[in-house]
Amino acid sequence: MGLSTLHKGKPMDFTGIASITYSAADMAEAKRLFTDWGLTKVSATRTRLAFETATGNRIEVRPDDTPGLPPRLEGGSSFREVVFGVATAARRDAIAADLARDREVTRDADGTVHSIDDLGIHIGIRVWKPRKPATRPATVWNRPEGRARVDREATACRDGARPSKVGHIVFAVTDVKRAEAFYRDRLGFWLSDRYVGGAGVFLRWAKRSEHHNLFFMKSRTGKTDLHHVAFEVGDVHEVFGGGMAFARQGWSTEIGPGRHPISSAYFWYFRNPLGGAIEYFCDPDYVTERWKPRNFRVNRFSEWHLPAGIPLKADGHVRPSLAAVKAIEAADAASARPAVPA
Ligand SMILES: [Fe+2]
Repeated sequence: MGLSTLHKGKPMDFTGIASITYSAADMAEAKRLFTDWGLTKVSATRTRLAFETATGNRIEVRPDDTPGLPPRLEGGSSFREVVFGVATAARRDAIAADLARDREVTRDADGTVHSIDDLGIHIGIRVWKPRKPATRPATVWNRPEGRARVDREATACRDGARPSKVGHIVFAVTDVKRAEAFYRDRLGFWLSDRYVGGAGVFLRWAKRSEHHNLFFMKSRTGKTDLHHVAFEVGDVHEVFGGGMAFARQGWSTEIGPGRHPISSAYFWYFRNPLGGAIEYFCDPDYVTERWKPRNFRVNRFSEWHLPAGIPLKADGHVRPSLAAVKAIEAADAASARPAVPA
């Protein structure tokens, strides 16, 4: 009996990703990484780093040799565990009871339940709700049919992105169909789209949600591992401006910026020294129970993308200095061009 049967008529939806845990050999580098990424530091000690998005998704980093950490996946990255949020303790306990039928389930003092999925990925369930993000002024767009932003420059996010939420997590796995079965039948995830032949499956954690919150792709190495974690930002200005600011700190692009045809999101992926990639994205499709899942025959990862980031000029983000402007004006005056006829 699957959970969907156990919970007939009760809300099945998850509230999001409560936390993701990595380990690190170099805690100072990990601290710099997530600080530069634009997360808010919650705590930083020798044995634990905790960062949050604006809505409270937590990224934790522990030293590699921390006792009791979930083990690495086969692929060898430093990803250790993802904890999904649920709205109520009853929902958490029902999932725990269902999982306990055929696998080990443990429980922390705070009630968080830990177990393992059918692919060997360590998962947790916690009562957790996202908080409302601190209000950031929305971008005001000047459209052909109306100028809403007058005598003001547009947003550029030159000081870096401030990720709002963890939108999705992606794993490379050996058996995509098995992953789909576990997350749909045991945890109640919703199917959004598939690549045929077990090449990939896009799932979402609520009936009404972003196009995908969880994506499994067929592993090319034959090993299971984290592929990437994606952080949603406000708009394209923040993807591009935030990405350029992050690149200026010395972090390397994995791929992007670009646009996904599936989910419509703009993206920019960076390499994460702890494993997989980290992605800024914006403007994902939002789907409901009326969405009809599709089957794609060929990989449609990218509609277009730059392969290696945006070339950065050392002074590309600096406005012309007053001295430079005066020099140009002086040169104009000296050239003594005839005045433009009125
Ligand atoms: Fe992604």
